[in-house]
Amino acid sequence: MALKHPRHDGHRGRDIEVNPIFSREPLKVPRYALPAGEMEPGTAYQIVHDELMLDGNARLNLATFVSTWAEPEALRLMAECAEKNMIDKDEYPRTAELELRCVHMLARLWHAGDPRRAVGCSTTGSSEAAMLGGLALKRRWRERRRDAGAPADRPNLVMGVNVQICWEKFADYFDVEPRYVPMEGDRFHLGAQEAAELCDENTIGVVAVLGSTFDGSYEPVAEIAAALDDLERRTGVDVPIHVDGASGAMIAPFLDPDLRWDFLLPRVASINTSGHKYGLVMPGVGWVLWRDEDALPDDLVFHVNYLGGDMPTFALNFSRPGAQVVAQYYTFLRLGFEGYRRVQRTCRDVATRLAAEIGGLGPFETLTGGGDLPVFAFRVRDGDAGRFTVFDVSAALRESGWLVPAYTFPENRTDLAVLRVVVRNGFSHDLADLLLDDLRRVLPRLRAQDAPRRHAADGVSAGFAHGTEPKKAAPKKAAPKKARSAGRSGQP
Ligand SMILES: Cc1ncc(COP(=O)(O)O)c(C=O)c1O
Repeated sequence: MALKHPRHDGHRGRDIEVNPIFSREPLKVPRYALPAGEMEPGTAYQIVHDELMLDGNARLNLATFVSTWAEPEALRLMAECAEKNMIDKDEYPRTAELELRCVHMLARLWHAGDPRRAVGCSTTGSSEAAMLGGLALKRRWRERRRDAGAPADRPNLVMGVNVQICWEKFADYFDVEPRYVPMEGDRFHLGAQEAAELCDENTIGVVAVLGSTFDGSYEPVAEIAAALDDLERRTGVDVPIHVDGASGAMIAPFLDPDLRWDFLLPRVASINTSGHKYGLVMPGVGWVLWRDEDALPDDLVFHVNYLGGDMPTFALNFSRPGAQVVAQYYTFLRLGFEGYRRVQRTCRDVATRLAAEIGGLGPFETLTGGGDLPVFAFRVRDGDAGRFTVFDVSAALRESGWLVPAYTFPENRTDLAVLRVVVRNGFSHDLADLLLDDLRRVLPRLRAQDAPRRHAADGVSAGFAHGTEPKKAAPKKAAPKKARSAGRSGQP
């Protein structure tokens, strides 16, 4: 954990040894203390560069949803904008204008009734966007309760136990009771009836995930909206939906035009996405939009003027890099609708083919086929489970450089352990074939084992699973302070 000084120092207190070719410099520099004096930029660069060489190869990382490749032109624009602070809209009005254009493009893409009335902003990613979406739901619920003269001290948020960890954080940081609908049998995400059953007059909203982090499946947003319509008819309780489209909000508009999930559903109040996932920008940008001004209470928006001019802001950060927002605008401009469609279509083609081939190998059963998000999860069939686990497979693939995370599902399917593959732009059919070759190569060895070698508790060997850490499904009415479970994998 980066917050603490490392307790186990693998370097046994040794300083960093500088390559002796740099003879004018001190040959050792402290590892965890600020060096006493300066050094040549070239030497400092080489030290940092050499250390980073030991990071993994991003293109072989099938764990992350986040872009690992961008065009040189996008990178050039980012370098040109390195000094631009997103908050400083008076100083950088053109960057602010590009942000606004991106918001409008997304509002149209997500079918806002009147795109000019939709409001939204860029964020550092979907996590910040989720916090802002959740805060708006909470504030609107509080206003409604106060107007009705009802108590407003016990807000809850209903969601599937499969939500990404950012929603658990939101509930914890902002004192909202998380009500997780558990998985049941072959239902690995939020069900419509189950969501409606957990709602009451204290529910600030339901989070529907377009593209579960666990297996890539879309949650049935339209069915959830219909179940909540029915709830309102029966009880008068009116619960809005926030769609966490971290990945799917940049897939569905291009590949699933008939799917009803966005502002076309009147119950959808807000939507977030990660510009740095299938928005195809390098890490550091997300988006959150509200269907209209009514969905974003005005008193959440701060007006700052000490940088000159009036700047409305709704963000957790103040200063924030503008380069990623510029890169997002570049990518929208560069690809257009047809370009995005082609890129996402290719990802889905690679994912569905790879899932089918892995399913055909014999020992594996696919839970999803890559046909929603280009992401799929698979498990070891019972016949082979006595010999090796998904954690063995993950470790074996790591020998060839592949990062394929393995993890256990949450309540009530903790019996289920899976591997997950995220197909991103740049993961070609050729790379998929190489992965298949490596998988075929390690299988005879794994099948010859007399018993599994690695288990969920081995944690680190299974790789970081990007927010699929287990959480506790809350029984209705309970308000548990979530247990920090031991199964939580180490975060970088
Ligand atoms: C469904 C979902 N929501 C939220 C997040 C968090 O997104 P970010 O990494 O952009 O903060 C993720 C990340 O994988 C996700 O899959």
